[in-house]
Amino acid sequence: MKQRENFSSKLGIIVATAGSALGLGNIYRFPCEAGTNGGGAFLIVYLIIALLIGTPLMVSEFVIGRRARSNPIGAFRLLSGKKNVWPVVGYLGVLCAFLILAFYTTVAGWTLGYLGKSAANHFAGQDLGQIQLQFMNFTNHPWLPIVCQLIFLALTAFVVARGVKDGIERWSKILMPLLLVIMVVLCINSLTLSGAKEGLRFFFNPDFGKINGRVLISALGQAFFSLSIGMGALITYGSYIGKKDNMVSSAAGVVLADTLVAVLAGVIIFPAAFTFGIQPQAGASLAFTTLPMVFQQMTGGYFFCLIFFLLLVIATLTSTISLLEVIVAATTEEMKLSRPLAAILGAVDTALIGVLATLSFRDGSPLHIGGRTVFDLLDHMTASYFMPLGGLLIVLFVGWKMKRADVLDELTNGGTLKTGLRKAILFIIRYLAPVAIAVIFISQLVGK
Ligand code: PFF
Repeated sequence: MKQRENFSSKLGIIVATAGSALGLGNIYRFPCEAGTNGGGAFLIVYLIIALLIGTPLMVSEFVIGRRARSNPIGAFRLLSGKKNVWPVVGYLGVLCAFLILAFYTTVAGWTLGYLGKSAANHFAGQDLGQIQLQFMNFTNHPWLPIVCQLIFLALTAFVVARGVKDGIERWSKILMPLLLVIMVVLCINSLTLSGAKEGLRFFFNPDFGKINGRVLISALGQAFFSLSIGMGALITYGSYIGKKDNMVSSAAGVVLADTLVAVLAGVIIFPAAFTFGIQPQAGASLAFTTLPMVFQQMTGGYFFCLIFFLLLVIATLTSTISLLEVIVAATTEEMKLSRPLAAILGAVDTALIGVLATLSFRDGSPLHIGGRTVFDLLDHMTASYFMPLGGLLIVLFVGWKMKRADVLDELTNGGTLKTGLRKAILFIIRYLAPVAIAVIFISQLVGK
């Protein structure tokens, strides 16, 4: 049998997982959700969920992946013993990856478009109205956003077709740290703006009265989305982790880095929004209007804008790669397709739905279902239903279905690691995480 590829080092897993986690979820979706869900109230719930539930859930996915050395469908089949329903969780995960990739590449396409705009210096000297108009004109353009989306998908398929180690690891390792550096520079710049105080108050001052069922499920969905958990992406990456790597510390490192980048994005965007008079509740356009305004007033703005959008494209690419990898790992192993063919078919299928998501964004588009655009519907379905449900089933599987000895063996690398946190992690996996996810999930269903 062909040997399965592994990440080459501990840094390899951290970098690849961080590559999957860091992306539009942090820079585009997080400020958008925080802005529409009360700022500080959202942030506090988000931090608790990301750190407390996110890390054990990420570890659970790694445990399943490395134990089974298989894609999510095969992994549940292998680890659950006799014929039973657990592989359904794997199918659900692959379907979820496909649905996320479809709408994610809509925004991924915008980042490419905005990279072009920054190269052409389209933001210089523009006022807020003109920058808002540019966003509307771009998203309403008859073909440009679609072409950008398709180019993005093609790039993703190209990297995934070449395989895990060559593609994913190499890309992520060089460019992710650079993104962090540029975000720190932007953060410092935002703190000097006139609306800094108001923006920071909005973002950091929790008004506990604003925490309700909607804020809870939005924060849960956002945490899962941002950390790439609850749908098998990290089961897939877990299957490439070497036997000697410490999964607990790797997961903790990724969760911290991801949370840091999301908070940095908030500190960049909210002060700027208050300075330029952009509503924090602006939704999808928030990042794409605030950021150009920031660059436009900054010394060296042209340069920073160009580098920022370039790095954002790459951060987004390492996330789309991990999404397509879920589909490709499943189809190569379950249906015995070759990797290049699986990558191409995966990208083409995604394009069919993805283009509808992009078209649904246009003003007056008829592509609405139940009052939501196709784009919104895909986003809502995955973050509010598929991922929480997937996450719940994953922790239940590791906590209650897998053999305890196997789980401990994975957590301690066969007893060679002294993971002090082992007991706490097991407790969260068995009790706290399932109860918390179930309560939030059910409260949204009942609250309707
Ligand atoms: N975590 C990515 C982001 O924050 O942009 C999005 C994502 C990637 C979600 C991969 C799920 C996934 F499997």
